[in-house]
Amino acid sequence: MALPELEHFFSDIQNAFDKSFLQRLVLSKYQGDEVDLERVTIRPVDIKSERLLSFLYQYKTNHITKNFSITAAIELLETLLGTHFKNAHLLSDEWETQLSFSKKGKILINRHRNKNNKSDIENTTLLAHNKEKNRFVEQSRPYLRELGITDANGQIIPAMSRKWKQINKFIEVLSNAIESTGLTQREEVHIADFGSGKAYLTFAVHDYLSAQLGVKTQVTGVELRQPLVDLCNQTATKLCLNGIQFEQGDVKHFAAKNINVMIALHACDTATDYAIHMGIRTGAEIIMCSPCCHKQLRPQLKSPAVLAPVLLHGIHLGQEAEMVTDGLRALLLEANGYDTQVFEFISLEHTSKNKMILAQKRKVERDNSLILQQIAAIKTFYGINDHCLEQLLESR
Ligand SMILES: C[S@@+](CC[C@H](N)C(=O)[O-])C[C@H]1O[C@@H](n2cnc3c(N)ncnc32)[C@H](O)[C@@H]1O
Repeated sequence: MALPELEHFFSDIQNAFDKSFLQRLVLSKYQGDEVDLERVTIRPVDIKSERLLSFLYQYKTNHITKNFSITAAIELLETLLGTHFKNAHLLSDEWETQLSFSKKGKILINRHRNKNNKSDIENTTLLAHNKEKNRFVEQSRPYLRELGITDANGQIIPAMSRKWKQINKFIEVLSNAIESTGLTQREEVHIADFGSGKAYLTFAVHDYLSAQLGVKTQVTGVELRQPLVDLCNQTATKLCLNGIQFEQGDVKHFAAKNINVMIALHACDTATDYAIHMGIRTGAEIIMCSPCCHKQLRPQLKSPAVLAPVLLHGIHLGQEAEMVTDGLRALLLEANGYDTQVFEFISLEHTSKNKMILAQKRKVERDNSLILQQIAAIKTFYGINDHCLEQLLESR
C-alpha cells in the first residue's frame, strides 16, 4: 500500500486520464541502475482505438517507447516513484503537480490549478499517428501568449507560425544536447543568451528547463538595446517567473561566469565570435549559435583564379565567406575541446538564417594538432589574416 500522498498522486493521474485531461507526466532525477537513463516522459496515446499511456524512456543517446494500459502504468509507477525516480511532474488540464522525494525519503508535493487550462487537448496529447506534429513546446504555455505567439484562445497567430516552428526546432535541438551532456542532473543550470532581442527563445529555454524538465535554471538574456531589455524584464515580472533576467550589455565586453549553456542566435557578424569565445572561456558544456551576417572574412578572401567566373557573382562570394567563416568557427571549437556539428537549423521556408553550430564539450581530451594544421591550411589557401574567434582565443 502506497503512502497517502502517493495514493493521492496516483488517483490524480487516474482521474486526469479518465477525463482525457492528462497532458503529461515526467519522471526525473533517476537513481536506478540503468546506465544513461535520464528521464521518462509519459503521455496518452491512442492505438487501435484504445487509449494507452506511452512511456518514453530517454537515455543519453537514444529513446525507447513502451505503451501500457492505465492500470499497468500505475502499477509500474508504484514501483518506480521514490525508488528509481525522485521527481515527478504531472500536468493535466486541471492541475499541475510537482512531487519530489527528499534525501530522507520525505515526500514534498506542490499542487496548484493549471491556469492555462485548454479544451484543445489535441494540442497537448500524443494521439493516434500524431495527427498534430509532435512538438517539444506546448501551445498552452503562458509565455507564448505574452509574447504574442498565441492568441487569447491559445491558438497560434498565423503571422507568428514561423517563429513558433523555430522555437520548437530550437528546443528540440537543445533538449537532445542537454540529454547527451547530462545537464539535467545538475543542481542548477546557468544559461546565457547573447543578443536575446525580443527573447522568444530565451523564454522558451527557461520554460523548457524549469517547468518541463523541473531543473533549477538561471537564464540571462544579454541585449544591446535597453528598450528590449526593459520590455523582457517586464514580461518576466508579469509572468511571475523566477530565474530569468535580462541585462543591457554588449557581448563584446560582457563578463560572464559559470555558464553551462551559451546561446547566440542571429547575433550580428562577429558578435557570434565573442559569444562563442565567452562560451569556451567559461567552460560551457553546450554552445549553440546560429550566425548571421558574415562580414569579416569577405574582403580578405583570395580564391584560386579558376573560381573567378563563379565568384564573380556577389551572392557566391557571400556564400563562400559564410561557409569559410563558420567552417573555421567549427574547427576552432573542435580544437578547443568541443564536438561540433554544423547543420540546417530550420529550413529556408521558415527563415533565411538557417544554420546552426552546435558544440558539446568533450568529456575526454583529444590531441588537436591535426585540427590546428587544418585551420592553418585553410587560412593560407584563402589568404586569411584575421578571424575574430581565433584572435580572441589567442588573446585569452
Ligand atoms: C536578429 S536579433 C535576434 C534575436 C534573438 N536571438 C532571436 O533569434 O530571436 C539580434 C539581436 O542581437 C542584438 N545584438 C547585436 N549585437 C549585439 C552585441 N554585440 N551585444 C549584445 N546584443 C547584440 C541586437 O540588438 C538584436 O536584438
